[in-house]
Amino acid sequence: MSDYVIRPLKTLEELKAVEALQRLVWDDPTTVIYHHMLISLARNGGSILGALRGDQLIGFVISYLGLEAPESERPAMANLKMVSQRMAVIPEYRGTGVGYELKLAQRRLAIQLGIRLITWTFDPLLSRNAHLNIRKLGAIGQVYYRDYYGSGDSALVKLHSSDRLLAEWWVTSNRVEQRINGRRAGLTLRQYLEGNATILNPTTVNAQGLPVPTDRTESPHSTLALFEIPTDYDAIVSCDVGLAEAWRAHSREVLEQLINEGYAVTDFIHGDHEGRERSFYVLSYGEYSEIRISRFSSN
Ligand SMILES: CC(C)(COP(=O)(O)OP(=O)(O)OC[C@H]1O[C@@H](n2cnc3c(N)ncnc32)[C@H](O)[C@@H]1OP(=O)(O)O)[C@@H](O)C(=O)NCCC(=O)NCCS
Repeated sequence: MSDYVIRPLKTLEELKAVEALQRLVWDDPTTVIYHHMLISLARNGGSILGALRGDQLIGFVISYLGLEAPESERPAMANLKMVSQRMAVIPEYRGTGVGYELKLAQRRLAIQLGIRLITWTFDPLLSRNAHLNIRKLGAIGQVYYRDYYGSGDSALVKLHSSDRLLAEWWVTSNRVEQRINGRRAGLTLRQYLEGNATILNPTTVNAQGLPVPTDRTESPHSTLALFEIPTDYDAIVSCDVGLAEAWRAHSREVLEQLINEGYAVTDFIHGDHEGRERSFYVLSYGEYSEIRISRFSSN
């Protein structure tokens, strides 16, 4: 399905359609970014890119300018990044590459403005988002936030938790260029396993066919480690709340610990392994420490 165009949205009508699409996806008025705010963003250096099929809005991505290192004394003009605040695609078009094309358009815009970094946050338990952000786009993750949006009721909070991983997309870096131009195919799970990586937490399956986290997570033996997550966390949230909470506690503990030890999320693999659909983060030691950016403080 490539019968759509991507372009900046600027008119009141177009921005009202972005508001409506958010309501469709999040179904929570407190989560929606209203058209008043979108107009202000669109007229003041932010951008709202839309994917349009004829007059129908099938997806959008919203971004604004922020500071790469907020505590730094660098002048703002030498410290700019783009913050990607929200992206959504209507359900009928998901998995057809619209999200990917929206992000590529956002990258082109950043490069045109001389910006090298785009950041956004995503729930590290969502395999689909990890595949798009880390594997296809080449973003990396080296900052983990507990309850980024708090733990109260909201569409952004699931089971009283809103943990997020910060995706850092260094848009002019070699790894990103190679990923998106397809010049360097990502490694397969087998290649990682042959290359000294171990699966720290191989899952088992319960009677309902849902993946269960191990209670004996290994420590990494080398500079590469694989951390397994469920392929469909939302299905677990819908049918087994206790298991979903166990997954949150497990992934929070292990990812935080690995990041604190100096590992960064550098790849993601989704595919068949030992007869089941499986999903793994790849964490590398040391590779990205020079671009570790300052952490957000919620205090
Ligand atoms: C996140 C979102 C914007 C992605 O848009 P999209 O158009 O579906 O994205 P794409 O089709 O470009 O890429 C999705 C990829 O994930 C893959 N995928 C689908 N389900 C998956 C799963 N369970 N595990 C891993 N990968 C999965 C798709 O196959 C596709 O990859 P491929 O092109 O290599 O096959 C869309 O799913 C969405 O609107 N979600 C709800 C809102 C949301 O979560 N927004 C992000 C946070 S603000």
